[in-house]
Amino acid sequence: MCGIIGYVGKSNATGILLKGLKSLEYRGYDSAGIAVFNDSAQSDVKKCKGRVEALCEIAKNLNSNAGIGHTRWATHGMVNDANSHPHKFNRVTVVHNGIIENYESIRDTLGVSNELKSQTDSEVVAALIDSCYNGDEKQAIISAAKRLTGTYALAVMFDGNPNSIYAVRNVSPIVCCKNDDGAYIASDIMAIGEYSSEYFVLPEFSVAQINENGFEIESFAGEEIIPKNLKLDWDIRSAGKCGYPFYMEKEIAEQPSVIRKTIEKRIVNGIPEFTVDGVDDGVLANCSRIIVVACGTAMHAGLVGKSLIEKICEIQVDVCMASEFIYGTPIINDDTLVICVSQSGETVDTLEALKLAKSKGASTLSIVNVIGSSIARESDYVVYTSAGPEIAVASTKAYSAQCTVFYLITARLALIKGTLNVEGVKSFVRELCEIPDKVQAVIDRREEIHRLSSSLLLADNVFMIGRGIDYPVLLEASLKLKEISYIHSEAFASGELKHGTIALITEKTPVISLLTQKNVASKQASNVNEVRSRGANVISIARKSLCSGKINCEFSLPESADEFSVLPAVTALQLVAYYVSSDKGLDVDKPRNLAKVVTVE
Ligand code: M6R
Repeated sequence: MCGIIGYVGKSNATGILLKGLKSLEYRGYDSAGIAVFNDSAQSDVKKCKGRVEALCEIAKNLNSNAGIGHTRWATHGMVNDANSHPHKFNRVTVVHNGIIENYESIRDTLGVSNELKSQTDSEVVAALIDSCYNGDEKQAIISAAKRLTGTYALAVMFDGNPNSIYAVRNVSPIVCCKNDDGAYIASDIMAIGEYSSEYFVLPEFSVAQINENGFEIESFAGEEIIPKNLKLDWDIRSAGKCGYPFYMEKEIAEQPSVIRKTIEKRIVNGIPEFTVDGVDDGVLANCSRIIVVACGTAMHAGLVGKSLIEKICEIQVDVCMASEFIYGTPIINDDTLVICVSQSGETVDTLEALKLAKSKGASTLSIVNVIGSSIARESDYVVYTSAGPEIAVASTKAYSAQCTVFYLITARLALIKGTLNVEGVKSFVRELCEIPDKVQAVIDRREEIHRLSSSLLLADNVFMIGRGIDYPVLLEASLKLKEISYIHSEAFASGELKHGTIALITEKTPVISLLTQKNVASKQASNVNEVRSRGANVISIARKSLCSGKINCEFSLPESADEFSVLPAVTALQLVAYYVSSDKGLDVDKPRNLAKVVTVE
């Protein structure tokens, strides 16, 4: 959460910082600010509550060759101008992403309470660096960083040195690149990827001095560090809206090609394999239990994986919320494979869970979208999804790509464990390869879905019911509806409803029913009848061949074998959430209180 950016070079920093902040805005949009050096080599800070658009108005006339910028997701202190970054304390100006857990004790030790202008932990960091300064800027940052507990990515400027900015980090990411025009740092390559096709991740516990010629990096122990360059393989231009009103609609529309790409490079002679990812069969062959660790949508993809793997490979899969995994007592043996799932690869709960799993001896494999991200670097093995940049806070195409990887893992694992023979795997893969066209068929009928979704516009509560693999799909659909339309929504395994929650079903309560598997069709029909007879307004979505009289389908999904309707179904439900949100006039891509990348616990 929070985006930081910095630039030193030959061009005017203001334009570069403001443009970069616009692409970082998905990380937090409570406030924004920049600081650049003025003619007297002092930092000029401009910042305000609200979006980058508002900052552009007040900062557009600044002219300088170096500066830093920030877009905020508030953790300490209200959303207001004073708590916006950058924070300046005497000669030191900082922007910060992360949380400093011991900021109160540092503040009290420094005795600076009366001098602080904000309630943030970040301003205390500026004061600490200032207090550590005795002529050596790098050493001041190292001494200060050594006293910090918590997570941080910091960009720092010192009054009197307009030719340099500094960066330092622990957990929270900073990527760096350079070209003939100067050197750039940011929380995310999206903000600076247009300036170079190569970049590197700033190593933790090192400090980078950045000037127009590039980077000098030194570890806290004083050793020079030459980081390894990574290739940017995303087309940054694809991060535009391409004529769609919102990124979310564009990203939903991209799903057929994302699923196809994720599958294609891993199928050889009709059989999935992970050679391109460097994952040999031993990784799967040696596991007799899998734990999936993730948050939010990524965890919901893990639940789909659990349904598939347990049914087809007969291997036990537990799915844990990363935030609970860290503070629980996970039981991990030599034959446990921990799979972490993350779009950003930076979610701190998932990252910490991964570190814990490794420390307990688990073999770790991550399903990640962002190349070179922290989770990818920390894992023993990585399977990259091919979703490209996902900008909308509500995750859609990344989820589809994650589920696709779970289908591929299921097929390979089934072959290794012998629960499917070669023909069985090939037929599984044939079904899988048809999914992109089926998702497209749903997208082509988006106007029908738009009409259906209109009945939810005035709802306060929505319930969703389904069985088997439909239940995790509905958990995801329900999260989508909540996060972008602000309608309270809950998903239930249909059989569980009558153990309490059915008390909430009254006249006209909207209930979405999902049915994609034959073996639960008659039970699901009974559950739909139970809520209908209590007055519920049921929207029924079902696989075409299961749209019988009993179910009375409002939207039929393309015909598929059991287990293969997950992605067409979720697409229909993503569109429901999307239309409800946009018809309510909400900012679909930037829902309130949220940020795309959650780098605080
Ligand atoms: O980047 P990650 O996949 O690790 O993010 C995990 C969740 O924060 C994320 O999926 C979140 O739930 C989405 N905003 C939901 O749409």
